[in-house]
Amino acid sequence: MNELIAPYGGELVDLFADDARIAELKEAALSMPSWDVTPRQQADLDLLMNGAYSPLRGFMGWEDYGRVLREMRLADGTLWPLPITLDVSEAFGDKLAPGQSLALRDLEGVLLAVLHIDDVWRPDHAAEALALYGSSDPQHPGVAQFLATTQPVYVGGRVEGVEAVMHHSFTDLRFSPAELRAQFAKRGWVQVAAYHSAAPLHAAQRELSVRAVRELGVNLLLHPVVEEEDDYYYRARCYRALLDHYPQQTTQLSLLSIPSRGGGVREMLWHAVVRRNFGCSHMLWEAGAARGYGIEDKGLQEVLSRYGAELGVQLIAREPLVYVEDSAGFEPLAQVGAGARTQSIDEAELQRRLREGLEIPAWFSYPEIIAELRIRYPARSKQGLTLFFTGLSGAGKSTIAKAVLAKLLELGGRPVTLLDGDVVRKNLSSELGFSREHRNLNIRRIGYVASEITKNGGIAICAPIAPYAEMRREVRQMISQYGGFIEVHVATSLEVCEGRDRKGLYAKARAGIIKEFTGISDPYEAPENPELKIDTHGLTIDEAAQRVFLYLEQQGYIV
Ligand code: PPS
Repeated sequence: MNELIAPYGGELVDLFADDARIAELKEAALSMPSWDVTPRQQADLDLLMNGAYSPLRGFMGWEDYGRVLREMRLADGTLWPLPITLDVSEAFGDKLAPGQSLALRDLEGVLLAVLHIDDVWRPDHAAEALALYGSSDPQHPGVAQFLATTQPVYVGGRVEGVEAVMHHSFTDLRFSPAELRAQFAKRGWVQVAAYHSAAPLHAAQRELSVRAVRELGVNLLLHPVVEEEDDYYYRARCYRALLDHYPQQTTQLSLLSIPSRGGGVREMLWHAVVRRNFGCSHMLWEAGAARGYGIEDKGLQEVLSRYGAELGVQLIAREPLVYVEDSAGFEPLAQVGAGARTQSIDEAELQRRLREGLEIPAWFSYPEIIAELRIRYPARSKQGLTLFFTGLSGAGKSTIAKAVLAKLLELGGRPVTLLDGDVVRKNLSSELGFSREHRNLNIRRIGYVASEITKNGGIAICAPIAPYAEMRREVRQMISQYGGFIEVHVATSLEVCEGRDRKGLYAKARAGIIKEFTGISDPYEAPENPELKIDTHGLTIDEAAQRVFLYLEQQGYIV
């Protein structure tokens, strides 16, 4: 540690202007350039304005930025692990200059803050990635996220806050640093350990945190990270349910809405600095969770000895606990006696049990939390799903899709919607033609509707040609986060389709009357790894539909 640098004292730097100044800023902002902040920038701005990023007074200028990257310090020497920068597009950045002020607005145009510009510069993103993640390989998950979401021009300068960012959910569980500090003071809490987590917590984590704070003789703040863009609602409900299982007098719960930076030691240190600003004396986490941040024990020890004293908050990592059957309690694996029977359920195993609707043992979690997880991750037989038929015109997509629809309706249970190619083109995409661009737009629309149906637990059956692999991949991605996605390649050959020519379109295409016709004068990229491939040649419609049913049953989507 550099002995010349004193630890930051911990006073809150709140950036909100007073009422008279806010009125002035609102007036002046009308003639300022205006930037609509992204969700990540909005989260940073929220934390800057409410003091969670103390002692920062705005988005970093290039001097702070450069030293933070090199040494994890602000220009004045204060320890600060990560750049907090405002990135804007090239076209917008070109119009900005030091000395100007910039209105920062949310997506609806509400003025949140004014930034007084000191610096506008083009950072070297590869160098920044290298400093942050120890790699500039675009395949590295942190680097990939950073490069995909960061714009080329940075704008730095002092911020004056006009309006606090509104959070409409779990308002009873959200506290600013000043509010939490006041609560701690009111409750007589001098030392508080913030329990850092980003996953749902269960009985083992409850035990780990209670034991840690008892040993330390400190109070406990459950301070889970939530990101506004994520589906954190079920997690927040789980935390709320978990709170009832903690000692009331010494435990508090608050959600920390903070944007993820993609991991690493720097992010962990940054979380600690933020917890200090929320009035905590310790930051506690489960060692396994830290490894998720790319921190191995050795790296962590190094960091602790280098920066521990300066951070102003003590870092405490605890080994995960396993369930010991013989004593019906939890212990760290290293302390379990030889021959003792232990149990643990990791995230993958939990997901498997949820997906297959299997039992989750009582020692693992609490009934209210398991009930929340079962709603969030229903068994496959209760999940929404999309059956996505793709293939040439005349391959039999619509016919099989209609037969599958009838059978699913007969089965009952989930609502079923058929988005047939021709029908969609009459309604949803009536203005579109058959260029690559229009076909992709058509498929994106179908994918969006199917994703909504899937999200809400229904079954969407889509039957477009969908000739381009890239767009089918996009649709798969869009839908898989909400439920099942089953790509069915109706692989009837061009010869057979053309031989059938039920609509007479192939004849017209051959005659040049219809242009850009799939298989004749336009491409069809066959799926490489569809869940199912059906060649209808020599199959009855019912036989083809039955293949789909067998697959659905085999995979547990229907019972
Ligand atoms: S795409 O590529 O997925 O957007 O096509 P899709 O929406 O499924 O529409 C295909 C139906 O439109 C008729 N049709 C054509 N198909 C292919 N190429 C051209 N140029 C074309 N022009 C009209 C045709 O009837 C398709 O219906 P299906 O049911 O596939 O035979």
